Amino acid sequence: MARTARTEGGMDDNNTFALRERERRQNSPVFVSGDEVRRRIANPGDLGMVFLIDPQLGFSVRSIRLWVNFYGNAEGNLGWKTLGHRHLIDAVINVLQGRGYSMIDGIRYDWEAGDFLCVPTYAWHRHISEGDEPFMYIAGTTTPFSKALGVSIHEDERYPEYWVFAQKSEAARTTLIPGGSEVPELPGSQSVSAFRGDQGLEGLLYEQEVAFANDEEKRRRAGRVLIKGSDLRFGQTRMGRVAYIVDPRLGFNTKVMSTLLAEVPPGHHSGAHRHLYEEVNYVLAGQGYSIVEDRRHDWQAGDALSIPVFSWHQHFNTGGETARFLVHTTRPALENLGYQMTQQGELASY
Ligand SMILES: [Fe+2]
Ligand SMILES: [Fe+2]
Repeated sequence: MARTARTEGGMDDNNTFALRERERRQNSPVFVSGDEVRRRIANPGDLGMVFLIDPQLGFSVRSIRLWVNFYGNAEGNLGWKTLGHRHLIDAVINVLQGRGYSMIDGIRYDWEAGDFLCVPTYAWHRHISEGDEPFMYIAGTTTPFSKALGVSIHEDERYPEYWVFAQKSEAARTTLIPGGSEVPELPGSQSVSAFRGDQGLEGLLYEQEVAFANDEEKRRRAGRVLIKGSDLRFGQTRMGRVAYIVDPRLGFNTKVMSTLLAEVPPGHHSGAHRHLYEEVNYVLAGQGYSIVEDRRHDWQAGDALSIPVFSWHQHFNTGGETARFLVHTTRPALENLGYQMTQQGELASY
């Protein structure tokens, strides 16, 4: 359908928009009660998904979705096997309870409580619960980010007629761009004249574009997938004790999301900082409060926090056990865009 171009008066002024955006971020909810999560933990037969954070729920985030899922076990046949599916998102799963395995691009990964799975972008996958207790996990994905970009592609085994890339053949089901062309190698020199060999530079650059998906798929398949809880290592930072879990610098092929665990010992507080990337926190253990800008938010295990872009935040442990946070951020996306900035405030007290 044809549309008429809009005149200047019908469009947002840049400054007005920036001001409105700042107010939107400042007024967005931060705290998410985990009452429903705790209720389901206490009622193991009560299955299903609990969405904690998503732009559709009114939070300021535009990129990340956070939810908890309760599956049944094989004995009860209560949804013990998820559908085979794939999607154009970064996805990280933390197994909170149960054990089983996932088939990801035909490879089996066994997991148990405490483990993490980084499902590579666009890999066919299925999760299978095998334990005696219900399978419970918390997932962070970049589904809203893909939606905002207009490239939210989700294919599952129920609806092959909805498939976008995988509709043609078995070969096409396993790759984003099946049978892509051979990629010519760029000469090693930095000089433009050296780039120009027998093939014109323009032709070479365009062929690289065509071949990108194949190259990316190789990088995806070479990326790490499973992180055992027993392999986690915490180290000291100005923000406190942190264990990086999923990060492009650690061999994962995520481009948008990064995942880590953060700990605050009893009686201590984390560092304070702010950054241009989005961040969501899930409280795995402990109790305390966080200061986000000038507001205090009390939390306990099962609660979640959505930290608005460029808001100062700091966590305080008021309980008797070490507080542990699961943290998903969009730092890699902001770094890839060239927008990323972090400012450090007060240091951690431990
Ligand atoms: Fe998935
Ligand atoms: Fe942060």
